[in-house]
Amino acid sequence: MALNRALIFLGPPGAGKGTQAKRVAQQYGALHLSTGDMLREAVNRDTKIGLLAKPIMERGELAPDDIVTAMVEERLAQPDCAAGFVFDGFPRTLPQAVRLDEILERRGFGKPVVIDFEVEPETLVRRLSGRWTCSVSGEIYNIYERPPKVPGVCDQDGGKLIQRSDDTAEVVKQRLAAYERQTRPLAEYYRREGVLEVVDASASMEVVSRALGEILRRTEGPDGHL
Ligand code: AP5
Ligand code: MG
Repeated sequence: MALNRALIFLGPPGAGKGTQAKRVAQQYGALHLSTGDMLREAVNRDTKIGLLAKPIMERGELAPDDIVTAMVEERLAQPDCAAGFVFDGFPRTLPQAVRLDEILERRGFGKPVVIDFEVEPETLVRRLSGRWTCSVSGEIYNIYERPPKVPGVCDQDGGKLIQRSDDTAEVVKQRLAAYERQTRPLAEYYRREGVLEVVDASASMEVVSRALGEILRRTEGPDGHL
């Protein structure tokens, strides 16, 4: 089963974009492209981009469009992108969305399928406060909803689980504000393009997974929304 298209997971911090993007990408053999993960890796490796992005991410603000877009373009130039991709956390601003449209068109992918993850803010805050991530594989856990079998240890590879430094109450507040101001308007942009789908992401992981599966089947065709 091939994806053969670009999926965009849109939604606030803690909506479950990463959790579901990992599943869909694995199921379809597609690339999971998380700009948050790419930036965190750059920060860990102390690259030029990492040094620039670190204080911005620590404040819960967005990294500059040109840097993020260049990073995505570079990644998409690699050969493992032919089967389609799941964008998680990108685009996040109108200029990023316009640029992505151009990139996809140039690469013959046509219009993306955009899925807006809807969840109320109180649920997001609880989810983020309970999130732990594997420092090796990036597998995502939650002490309330999906606890690891052994506290602090990844079920899959035994890696140490860590909390993200931007999951503190104060930074979460800023991330939610940045989402409302800069990213939420993208839903309207994609609605006008006729490619927006909405899921109730406050449901359980399994229910959200099933809802996504239904959307993907419904929008299937040789080219998805093309
Ligand atoms: P990024 O890493 O993208 O963070 P985010 O958008 O804030 O989203 P999260 O990763 O926090 O949430 P998620 O939706 O992936 O939820 P998850 O699946 O983990 O970005 C981080 C920073 O990088 C930004 O603030 C910005 O500075 C920078 N950045 C990144 N992209 C950028 C861009 N394009 N432009 C500019 N700057 C950029 O789930 C959360 C928790 O809930 C987990 O514990 C999970 O187990 C649990 N959970 C998931 N689904 C469910 C469910 N259905 N029910 C119960 N629990 C659930
Ligand atoms: Mg994420």
